[in-house]
Amino acid sequence: MRIRKAVLPVAGLGTRILPATKVVPKELLPLVDKPTLQYIVEEAVEAGIEEIIFVTSHSKHAIEDHFDRFSELEQTLERKGKKKELAAVRRPQELAKFMAVRQSEPLGLGHAILCAREAVGDEPFAVLLGDEITPCLPKMLEVFEKYQTSVLALFQTPREQISSYGIASVEEKEPYIYQVKDLVEKPSIEEAPSDLAVAGRYIVTPDIFPILERTKPGRGGEIQFTDALLEQAHQGKCYGIHYTGSRLDMGTPLGLLTTSIELGLQHPEIGPALREYIKGVVQRQR
Ligand code: G1P
Repeated sequence: MRIRKAVLPVAGLGTRILPATKVVPKELLPLVDKPTLQYIVEEAVEAGIEEIIFVTSHSKHAIEDHFDRFSELEQTLERKGKKKELAAVRRPQELAKFMAVRQSEPLGLGHAILCAREAVGDEPFAVLLGDEITPCLPKMLEVFEKYQTSVLALFQTPREQISSYGIASVEEKEPYIYQVKDLVEKPSIEEAPSDLAVAGRYIVTPDIFPILERTKPGRGGEIQFTDALLEQAHQGKCYGIHYTGSRLDMGTPLGLLTTSIELGLQHPEIGPALREYIKGVVQRQR
């Protein structure tokens, strides 16, 4: 079965980047010339996703507005003959079909996914978390096609970061393809079953919904997505890929800055000037 829909939970309060995120949703903080969330939507669309379901909350209207038409601005740009700007304004809305559901209480990531149940229906779907750019969906989709189970993206993490992630223990089935045996949300180093962390990209089968419905609050008193995936893993229905490609984290002030630099350097127009600027800064610091 093809994966057509992606759930993007964007209801979080963004407390790691205050005060920048006091009134601007963290998902709309800019990276070069686009909001972070647009990169993630583009990543999903490139992997074949056609429908994006945002799980939003109070004070996140601007997210829906970004992926909607803005006719007044479009008309002004059109009248002035600003073709490039007009295309940039229209692009977000043209990327996919968008809808939004609300998470009325911050009860955790698992609860946020459960809020999308009706919008997803009875089909497998992707989940993309908003604070990282990890282009690994194509490989995950291959694994899904073969095993027809939920699929996680796992990456090796340094010991000191283990307690920031869901951590998996696995059995290798093929090179870089694992069956997930155990999952622990944000364990201490002692509790961690390995150093394989779960990235914010998931392919999920719809039997996750009844599991989420009965999932009790876990780590931090929140309904954890990881705990529901663990139940699938215990049923032999959760696989993972070992991802070794690039993963840009923009969920912290430093991450936002380093991701901006990475993307700025890759940008065809500003990349060369930014490279020169960085060289100058480094020289001045010596
Ligand atoms: C969430 C998940 C965690 C996962 C992480 C990836 O945590 O709960 O299992 O490893 O995303 O970024 P969060 O970063 O939302 O606290």
